Amino acid sequence: MADFFQPVFWTLFISLGTLGGIFWMLYLLISGRKVKLKPGETAKSTGHEWDGIEELNNPLPSWWVWMFYFTIAFGLGYLMLYPGLGVAKGMLGWSSAGNHEIEVKEAQAKYGPLYKKYASIPIDQLARNEAAMRTGNRFFVNNCAVCHGSDARGNRGFPNLTDSDWLYGGKPEQIKTTILGGRDANMPAWLPVIGEEGVKNVAAYVLSLSGRDMPADEVAAGKKIFQTNCVGCHGMDAKGNQALGAANLTDKIWLYGGNRKTVEQTIAHGRRGHMPAQKERLGEDKVHILAAYVYSLSHKKQ
Ligand code: HEC
Ligand code: HEC
Repeated sequence: MADFFQPVFWTLFISLGTLGGIFWMLYLLISGRKVKLKPGETAKSTGHEWDGIEELNNPLPSWWVWMFYFTIAFGLGYLMLYPGLGVAKGMLGWSSAGNHEIEVKEAQAKYGPLYKKYASIPIDQLARNEAAMRTGNRFFVNNCAVCHGSDARGNRGFPNLTDSDWLYGGKPEQIKTTILGGRDANMPAWLPVIGEEGVKNVAAYVLSLSGRDMPADEVAAGKKIFQTNCVGCHGMDAKGNQALGAANLTDKIWLYGGNRKTVEQTIAHGRRGHMPAQKERLGEDKVHILAAYVYSLSHKKQ
């Protein structure tokens, strides 16, 4: 019902308002023209006066009236040719969406071959091509900065792409695979399995791995829990597993924050980082350029 009612209602509403306004102006103009002074007669006051300024009933100057007629004719002509009245399409068939499509096609025709050329250059080489990296930066700002930040340094839950710490690997092809297909991390919630005490102890152990001073008894109890439950993904050495995106827990780099409370929360309730796939959205050529751009961020020229 709303699907039918809304366009019809708004079309009527807008058309009546717009056309009504235009014809009302026309009526005012024509009726204003009827005021004519007889030869020898001087303009009389209309009775409106303010601060010594008086309104007289002089006729409107013709050049002004004709200009007004012209703008009305222009407005009506414009409304016939272009979509201005609700869902009415206009005789030229122009639409902003259509216009956008044409611009996208033109851009594709203009830049497509260039992107194809870039896409044939290996990622680590392309990362040294300044013109390509300016393009990559533009893609990044438009498509990735909302999550990773315009400087790509990330934020809580969104990894920093400028360091050499990688959840899924920093080799050119690994980066490209991440961007093309997206990534879904699955860090399970451990509270139901190991209880509050367990969470507290294993968090102490995890923090001790990156050199934090933690109570020895908690660390010892936590280590046992870790070896039973966590090594499957994070590894015996807790350095993580890039095939799963399981974070390295021995460095001082934290995706979700490294204070004790946050680490306990991560372990108790789990985390599910989601990196959206870009293959459909951007296409393979642009992703190739973006992969080179991301690669360049942590491989600055010597
Ligand atoms: C099924 C595999 C899996 C198991 C088992 C697992 N983890 Fe994780 N863990 C992950 C993944 C994947 C991530 C990354 C989550 C993300 O990126 O959203 C992660 C992230 C973390 C983080 C956050 C690191 C950061 O940088 O913020 C901590 C802490 C952590 N795990 C601790 C543990 C502990 C302690 C255990 C055992 C009780 C455990 N994990 C068991 C897969 C696992
Ligand atoms: C909706 C938010 C979002 C957008 C948009 C986004 N990302 Fe991500 N990205 C993430 C998250 C979250 C992760 C971490 C996934 C995890 O926790 O396992 C990630 C991970 C990555 C990684 C892997 C980092 C590592 O350490 O292995 C790369 C590379 C990456 N993104 C590049 C990009 C690029 C390039 C774009 C733009 C085309 C982009 N991302 C757009 C959210 C986003």
